[in-house]
Amino acid sequence: MKKIIVTGALGQIGSELVGKLRAIYGTDAVLATDIRAAQQDGPFEILDVTEGKRMHELAKDFGADTMIHMAALLSATAEKNPVFAWNLNMGGLMNALEVSRELNLQFFTPSSIGAFGPSTPKDNTPQDTLQRPTTMYGVNKVAGELLCDYYFTRFGVDTRGVRFPGLISYATPPGGGTTDYAVDIYYKAIEEGKYTSYIAEGTYMDMMYMPDALQAIVDLMEADGSKLVHRNAFNISAMSFEPSQIAAEIQKHIPSFTVEYDVDPVRQAIADSWPNAIDSSAAKAEWGFKAQYDLASMTVDMLEKLKK
Ligand code: SER
Repeated sequence: MKKIIVTGALGQIGSELVGKLRAIYGTDAVLATDIRAAQQDGPFEILDVTEGKRMHELAKDFGADTMIHMAALLSATAEKNPVFAWNLNMGGLMNALEVSRELNLQFFTPSSIGAFGPSTPKDNTPQDTLQRPTTMYGVNKVAGELLCDYYFTRFGVDTRGVRFPGLISYATPPGGGTTDYAVDIYYKAIEEGKYTSYIAEGTYMDMMYMPDALQAIVDLMEADGSKLVHRNAFNISAMSFEPSQIAAEIQKHIPSFTVEYDVDPVRQAIADSWPNAIDSSAAKAEWGFKAQYDLASMTVDMLEKLKK
């Protein structure tokens, strides 16, 4: 990675990834793009990812050698508008893969635990297993994983990807995900001392602290391609918990903190269709994936940063 174009640069992951990439590769080495304008400390262009010609022009003019394609709708938003989700998530991905083929770019896009469904083994979910998701987001993610494999085997595009779990960050509030409760709970703990969870007690999902997610992208992209057996959509997870466990962890620091439940049936159904805990051993074996943060250390850091 020397000259990197990032789509969805103002999104949940993109807004922190751009800073990390600029710190490693240089401010001018990263072209941030998004559908809306924003103040940036480096190169920035407006880009609607459904416009393939403009995407091609921007990547070419920038002299990019890498495409990191982040622009997409998350699970709960996609469920509200499935046709728009298909057009944006799949149209954007096809354009990004085509531009990468045309300009010979190394390519990254994230898949998700959302690529699994109710028939997937729920515990220690294997890297290679049944994938019959029941959400539009999941359908997009499975199709995306297959497309990335296809562009590698058919055209030799160096496509790489991971299945991210729920990502937790103090910097950017997420938008429209099912796992977002595990971000909101920290904000509300500090602001109001209590939280009403839309996910039911006992619902386990995989999670990861954002610094580990960003490092995973860099590590996978820098890994020796000849060692990658899977290339796309590596399971990665740092922890698995359910709402009362994260609440108990927060209570260690804010003893008066309380949690109530008012379950949202749509997001609960999505969560119920996803694994409890996935197996990251392929990512560990093939490119050395490692997470630094667990629930306890993430909670210390989140509360400290958010209080500021
Ligand atoms: N965090 C995402 C979501 O909940 C999962 O990929 O939609």
